[in-house]
Amino acid sequence: MKIKTLASLLILTILFSINSANSEDKKVFISIDTDSLNFTEKKFGPRVQEVESRDGISVVKIDEDALPWLSILMHKDFKRCGGFMRHDSLDEANAILNSTGEKLFAKNNLFANYKIDQDALVTPMINNAQASNILNTIGQLSAFQNRYYKGEFGKKSATWIKDTWSSLVKGRSDATVDFFAHAKWDQPSVILTIKGLSDETIVLGGHQDSINGYMGGSSARAPGSDDNASGISTITEVIRVITDSSYRPLKTLKFMAYAAEEVGLLGSKEIAASFKKQNVNVIGVMQLDMTNFKGDESLDIVLMRDYTNDEQNKFVGAIIDHYVPGIKWGYDECGYGCSDHASWHTQGYPASMPFEATMSTMNHKIHTANDTLSVSNNNASHAIKFAKMAIAYLVELDHR
Ligand code: BES
Ligand code: ZN
Repeated sequence: MKIKTLASLLILTILFSINSANSEDKKVFISIDTDSLNFTEKKFGPRVQEVESRDGISVVKIDEDALPWLSILMHKDFKRCGGFMRHDSLDEANAILNSTGEKLFAKNNLFANYKIDQDALVTPMINNAQASNILNTIGQLSAFQNRYYKGEFGKKSATWIKDTWSSLVKGRSDATVDFFAHAKWDQPSVILTIKGLSDETIVLGGHQDSINGYMGGSSARAPGSDDNASGISTITEVIRVITDSSYRPLKTLKFMAYAAEEVGLLGSKEIAASFKKQNVNVIGVMQLDMTNFKGDESLDIVLMRDYTNDEQNKFVGAIIDHYVPGIKWGYDECGYGCSDHASWHTQGYPASMPFEATMSTMNHKIHTANDTLSVSNNNASHAIKFAKMAIAYLVELDHR
């Protein structure tokens, strides 16, 4: 109650300040769903200008300083978390309008007529996946004051992830763990590569950073247990299981912990753009962002339809039916590029985003100091379903 009043006061103060244009302000480009364009124009007045709208997506020029407020307002008034994607140039923003993702992929129908037949490999691995390991990793990641993309904690937590992944694959001559450094902020992304026989590449990723959306900054408490220690910990368990089974992939597997997702998908955007530039043949991307809060009574795994690939989503659904029986899955939409899958999709790579709940039943404590394990799930019984799905996805796609 008190917090709500405080928040409303804060919003009012913001409303007085956000409408004042300052020609000195740095402009950036964002893309938003056209249905939130009017709202954005009304709130920000001259600080925002529409550039072009097409097929329900609008490219908008906006003061950089207005972005944090936009994120909060979208959350509050538009029931969207963030609700925009930031672009470094007009060209990059326009690429969204041309949305090459689905079109490029249509030419390469890898997921047509799939067979799911790697039971002999997959089943023992799935049986080896342990919820207690995921729980333990979530606990360790949540213990950092935050994992904010700027400042000491976000760097320390990135190093912790790199060290943890390195120790899981030590002794494997086919595996390397590297930082992917970003020029504009300190927190690096982390990439674990298990080199296969071919250069075809499969990516399993999630964001490592956390944020306190109201206080922001590099010192505010942001445990991010669900968003997204849960995804990173799920991926960590997948890495452990794959290594434990001595699985040698045919294709190249990459596990990624992206930096700076919470401030506009920044880390994954740089990685996906660099992969595209180097023509890396990524045949499938799975994003795990929030896996440990079961919001919907009747659904366990919710596949986001937007900024993802339909064909791969069907394949993932079939994987769940086959390998994680008893698990109910369905579809929903974020309504905007809500996580790193959108960065890959924008570059034309097939991406999927299996999510923990529907949008209407999501965990509302994310981006606060209360995104803790006790709010999401104290035994990781939800996250373990995602680990099993991801193991099966990697091995089956590896055999396509
Ligand atoms: N995990 C969230 C995205 C999310 C939240 C998906 C709720 C589905 C339901 C992610 O970390 C996030 O917060 N993303 C930002 C993206 C923005 C900065 C482009 C957001 O939604 O505000
Ligand atoms: Zn988030």
